[in-house]
Order: sequence, then C-alpha cells, then structure tokens
Amino acid sequence: MRPFVVLIASIAALGGLLFGYDTGVISGAILFIAKAFALPTHLQEFTVSIVLIGAMTGSACAGVLADRIGRRQALFLAGGVFGLGAIGSALAAGIGVLLVSRFVVGLAIGLSSVVAPLYISEVSPARFRGALVSLYQFAITVGILGAFIVDYAFAPSGAWRWMLGLAVIPSLVLVGGMIPLPQSPRFLFKIGRVDHARRVLARIAGSDETAEEEAAIREGLRVKQAGMEIFADVPFRRALLVGVGLAILQQVTGINTVIYYGPQIFHMAGVGSNQASILATAVVGVVNVVLTLVAILFVDGVGRKPLLYAGCGGMCAALLALAIAFAQPQLGGALTWIALLSLVVYVGSFAYSLGPIVWLLISEIFPLQARGLGMSICTLANWAANFVVSEFFLTMIEKLGGPATFAVYAFLCVVTIAFVARVVPETKRQLLERISAAV
Ligand code: BGC
Repeated sequence: MRPFVVLIASIAALGGLLFGYDTGVISGAILFIAKAFALPTHLQEFTVSIVLIGAMTGSACAGVLADRIGRRQALFLAGGVFGLGAIGSALAAGIGVLLVSRFVVGLAIGLSSVVAPLYISEVSPARFRGALVSLYQFAITVGILGAFIVDYAFAPSGAWRWMLGLAVIPSLVLVGGMIPLPQSPRFLFKIGRVDHARRVLARIAGSDETAEEEAAIREGLRVKQAGMEIFADVPFRRALLVGVGLAILQQVTGINTVIYYGPQIFHMAGVGSNQASILATAVVGVVNVVLTLVAILFVDGVGRKPLLYAGCGGMCAALLALAIAFAQPQLGGALTWIALLSLVVYVGSFAYSLGPIVWLLISEIFPLQARGLGMSICTLANWAANFVVSEFFLTMIEKLGGPATFAVYAFLCVVTIAFVARVVPETKRQLLERISAAV
C-alpha cells in the first residue's frame, strides 16, 4: 500500500478523532458547566443533547454539499467549523452562546461523519479500502479516549473551557492537513475533470490498476442519472435499505449507553468508589481503541460479514451475561466482576465489527451518482437512532429495569446477525463500482 494513501486516510480520519472527542468530552465537562451557569436539569440535558441535534442537521446537509463542492472541500470546511465551535464553546460568556457553539460542533460532527468515510473510501485502492476506512473508526475511539483523559486531567480544577476548547488543536491539523491533499478521483470524474482525475488515480492506485478503475468509474457514471428520480431506482433503494438498516442497528444494540453512561452502569454493577468507576471507564476506552485494530488487520482478508457475525455474537453473549448478573438480587464480589468483564467483551466485540464496518459499508454500497445523498440519509438515521437510544436509556432502566433493558439490546444483536445474513453484501476487495452494481 502506498504511504501517500495512508497519509490521506490518516488526515481525513482526524474528522473521526474530533467526532469521538466532541461526543465524549461533554460527560466530564457538564458537571462544571452546570455549576458555572447554575443550570436546571433540563438545560443540562439540552447542553449534552444539542450536539446530537447539530450532528443530525450536519449529516442531512453533508451529502448535497459533498456532491456540490467536493469531498475534500467539504472536509476542509468541517475542520473549520469544528474549530469555530471549539473556540465559541471555550469562550462562551453565557449559556446561550455555549448552546449555539455546541450546535455548531454538532454540525461539524455530522458533516465529517458523512464526508470523512466517503472521501477515504473513494481514494482507497479496493484491496485496502476496509483497513483505510476503519482508520476513521480507530480515530473515533482515540478521540473518545482522549476526551476521557482530558476530562480526568482537568477535573480537579474544573476547567471545562479547556476541556471543550482543546478540540481546536486537531481541527487546525485537519484544516491544514487537507490543503495539500488531492480531490477524490471519483468526484473529479463525476464533474468531468478527466485529466486531473487520472493524475490522482495514478498517484493513489499505481498505473497498472488505473485503467480498470477508470473504466469502471466511467461505466458507473454513464448508467445512472443524478437527482431525486434516483429514489425510483431499485438498486439505490436496496442500498438504502442495507445502509439505513445497518446505521440504525449500530445504535440500537446499545453501544452509546456504555460510552455515554459508563460510570452509571459501573455504579449499578456494584463498583462503589468514583476512582474505581473512572478506572473501569478508562479500561473500556482502551479496549475500544485496541480492538478496532483487529478490524484494520482483518477486514480486507477475512471480510466484512464474518467480522460482523463474530462481533455481534460476542456482543449478544456479553449482554445476556450482563442481564443475568443484573437480575441477581444483589451485585457484589464475583457478580460485579462478571458484569465488568461482560461490558469489556461487549465493547471489544463492537470495536472490531459494528463500529468500523457500518461506516465502511455505507461508504461502499451506493453508486457514485448518489453516494453523497445515500450516505447522508444513512448517517442521519445513525444520529437519530443515537439520539433516541441515549435520550431514553435512563428511562428504560427505570421502567424496564437493567436485566430487561440489556436483554432487549441482546435481542437486537440477533436481529443484526439475521439482517447481515439476509441483506448485506460482502464487499471485500471489490471496486466500489462493482459493489454498487451488485447490491
Ligand atoms: C459510533 C458511535 C460510537 C462509537 C464508539 C461509532 O462507530 O457511530 O456512535 O460512540 O463508534 O466507539
């Protein structure tokens, strides 16, 4: 694999790092923000969830933008918006400005969650596309862990402005890093800049593969028409079913209950002290990062579907163990350890399957003419499902109880396995154009 392609993917993946950091950092900052602005509970909740509302808005607009101005420019823009949001959050004099800034951060998250995987996927040679797009998920997990470390480091001083403001550093690196990067060759073909597209393709794919790739891209462009009539196109509708289904299942199997509410769950599991629950949260964060490497290593060799089966199977088993542990009259001793181990297995299994592979597949299954639009719709569904699950998790625990809540997530893992078996195509090592033609 050419180092140049790895460099492109790594810079674009910074969009994922900011996604992870900005969704993770608020959990530690909110306590201090609430105190600084004397916020009632509903405003505290809104300060947390407005990022998700921004992300839904950003992802809804991202596809059209990426198709108009190009993937590279859209990602460049996302970096700038991330930076503005971080500065606005850090300097906010009142809750109004803070809310607007958090919404702006959400916009950038939504934008980059469509455009970063899209761009990486379109510049990657087919043989390594799985690993390169998984770098994006790897960056998300590093961002989540980084947020946890920053929150922990600044907690004694209560410096929430620093917690939120530090995101400006990766934003600047993203903006600066995107400047010398090439446009997506597929986007260039789409807008008719053929010579430029060929030059980029030769730099990233090597001259022996360029001809085949160019032929496939041109063929794809000839067949399909852009515009709203695409919704009448049966293959596009089938790709939408696959993508939206996967995007929703990634969320309703419960990952963000652990990512956003980790300390509360550890508390329920019988972890008494704050220190121990922070340590447990850190272990989960590290496992999330490390196990994503498994996907990077195996997704192009073993394939997407086997990893999805193994990961969802592991998540299901871990959730059932958790449900059983929580069903016992009293947690403590061995049961607490079983609960903790289950959480680690659950997050680890997600990390090499549903985490990276959902982003990967939704960047692969759409035809070039409608890739931006298709990814936008799937990503919007992902953020909407994220919003619903994280808004209602505590209510679910309260109304249904822990065991039933985790059993529902376990059942949804089984649904995911069935969905993957029945409708998801295996896409390893295939040219993007062959995939969309075959979905
Ligand atoms: C999901 C996020 C989640 C993260 C955890 C991503 O793939 O889209 O919602 O917080 O993985 O690592």
